Amino acid sequence: MARESIKDRQGNLYMSVIDEQVTVNRATRQDLNTPEELYLHLLKRCLTRLVFSEVSGDSTVQASGTGAARRVTYTIVRKTAAPLYRGLMRRAPFIYPLLRKVIVPLYRAWVRRAPLDPNARAEGRDWPADAETMIGMRRLDNIQFCVADVLRQGVPGDLIETGVWRGGATILMRAVLKAYGDTDRVVWVADSFQGLPKPDARHTPADTGDTHFAFDYLAVSADDVKANFARYGLLDNQVHFLVGWFRDTLPHAPIERLSVLRLDGDMYESTMDALQALYPKLSVGGYVIIDDYGNLSPCKAAVDAYRAEHEITEPIERVDWTGVFWRRLR
Ligand SMILES: C[S@@+](CC[C@H](N)C(=O)[O-])C[C@H]1O[C@@H](n2cnc3c(N)ncnc32)[C@H](O)[C@@H]1O
Repeated sequence: MARESIKDRQGNLYMSVIDEQVTVNRATRQDLNTPEELYLHLLKRCLTRLVFSEVSGDSTVQASGTGAARRVTYTIVRKTAAPLYRGLMRRAPFIYPLLRKVIVPLYRAWVRRAPLDPNARAEGRDWPADAETMIGMRRLDNIQFCVADVLRQGVPGDLIETGVWRGGATILMRAVLKAYGDTDRVVWVADSFQGLPKPDARHTPADTGDTHFAFDYLAVSADDVKANFARYGLLDNQVHFLVGWFRDTLPHAPIERLSVLRLDGDMYESTMDALQALYPKLSVGGYVIIDDYGNLSPCKAAVDAYRAEHEITEPIERVDWTGVFWRRLR
């Protein structure tokens, strides 16, 4: 008998947990009949920490307050209080006990960890404390579908994600290659590994006021991402890192051809830089996936502008509440 079922807001069933073992995914009608399918499904549940969430559980990182107010207060704290605190610690370390008693508890009360909500996690709506990806099950299923399909159809080219954070989506890409015995294709892991860039309002007015750069949470080092690949036994010579801002790394990246291009850089600049440098390298028959099309209007604006300029008419298909993709047909 099912102990727990997780549905998205449209009522599609993601999974039923039966004695923590049996899972069904009706949302993408994935069968779990082969060892490959079972391995990849278990991996996705590990990368999201949905596996055993009911007993051990990851948590969600939250600043108190909601939406814009939370971002503004976070930015103020990071811009003023945090450097002040660090300066005081350098110049007057004897104040440390007092600061520790007052400031740290205040900060901890503000940036708190809420218990994991399996629905939010499955839909990719929360900021995980420990999981290697924040994109949820549907978007992971979509990556698996796209990579397996280009392998099945023999569409040539490597795989890339631009904006990897802790690496979970690229770990899954490498796992799909491994599961189906591909030994030629490379997974490119592209990120600054220091968070998002400050918006440049002169060049990209659509990013004006964007505060993503202020979140230390979004800055994960390349060493940490490599350790995450290694944790799953998937760090090898089919994984290549591109370290730096997209505007600097992508135009000269030694990538010949791509079959799956996944964009998850949140901002207009990050999305446009990736499309301009990489879409021309996408094989006909390959897939482009946009993580933030439904959720972040600057990202959507960049995609719409690029499609209009290059007369791309392939229909955009929805993955979930924010992710979309299309298959390149010409
Ligand atoms: C939302 S996170 C990606 C989430 C990830 N795909 C996952 O599976 O959870 C966005 C990432 O994009 C990176 N990023 C955004 N814009 C960038 C840019 N212009 N250059 C380099 N890295 C960028 C950030 O450092 C961050 O790691």
